[in-house]
Amino acid sequence: MIPTLVFYSQVDSFDDWKALLAPRLPELRICLPEEVEDPDSVHYVLAWKPPQGFFVQYPNLKLLVNLGAGVDSLVNRDDLPAVPITRISDPDMSRMMASYVLFAVLRHARDIPAFERAQRERRWHYLHPRLPESVRVGILGLGELGTFAAKELSRQGFDVRGWSRSPRQLENVTCVYGMESLNEFLASSDILVVMLPLTAQTRGLLNADRLAHLPRGCSFINVARGALVDQQALTSALASGQIGEATLDVFDREPLPPEDPLWAMENVLITPHLASVAIPASAAQQIADNIQRLDRGEPVLHQVDPARGY
Ligand code: GLV
Repeated sequence: MIPTLVFYSQVDSFDDWKALLAPRLPELRICLPEEVEDPDSVHYVLAWKPPQGFFVQYPNLKLLVNLGAGVDSLVNRDDLPAVPITRISDPDMSRMMASYVLFAVLRHARDIPAFERAQRERRWHYLHPRLPESVRVGILGLGELGTFAAKELSRQGFDVRGWSRSPRQLENVTCVYGMESLNEFLASSDILVVMLPLTAQTRGLLNADRLAHLPRGCSFINVARGALVDQQALTSALASGQIGEATLDVFDREPLPPEDPLWAMENVLITPHLASVAIPASAAQQIADNIQRLDRGEPVLHQVDPARGY
């Protein structure tokens, strides 16, 4: 029986992943769920948001690799197999995320949305540029992705602050931690970038009360998960001007339904959850390494703790 790796994703290319994994794992059969010949041979699953009931088909599973950085959609389900779960931890993925965050922060810091609106009205609308050091950028969440983005922003000269649940130290970034410092942190963020993992503790963290602590007219960027934020409260804050502008890559419900009021808001830029994606060229090696580690009886790297949620 040839051991099999099954791939599942509705957004990633099977052919791209297979082309890079196959030479690194020549002893495996790599296929899509519909191509599995013997479910007992499936030892590995590489998947992004597989449907409910996916794993029970494979009784001999040994490793589940989440095809992405955030594991919330996996660890919150009730049909997880009792095998190690790993996630992708890839500097290129962090760089892709940092480039999106940098784009969004610069767009807000340089008042580009105001010029886009003025251009539609053929209006010469001079706003004197602000210096980056006068713009306070708050990064909510200093994990792998948040830390990388914070460093890029500080290289641009922004006044970067970071908040995390436990203490962190980063050069050129003012770090604070803990729930008791959150409201003050929000109050000092001219541009807030949400980069937290979604866990039981962070779900709904940015509710109406918390959003009210942001400086009036601030900019809001969410590249993490929609459910970290009360989307209705966010929409109201954008309508009232409490939040001046937003760049949103993630939403409560994805795809964002066509009737959602956020689509029509002049002060919102919407992108369809692609700030950062899993990159085969840089991540295939670590997936292959983990499979080989497991086969040698060694502990896998980048393992997720389902109880902790990340
Ligand atoms: C994308 O959202 C990811 O978590 O990889």
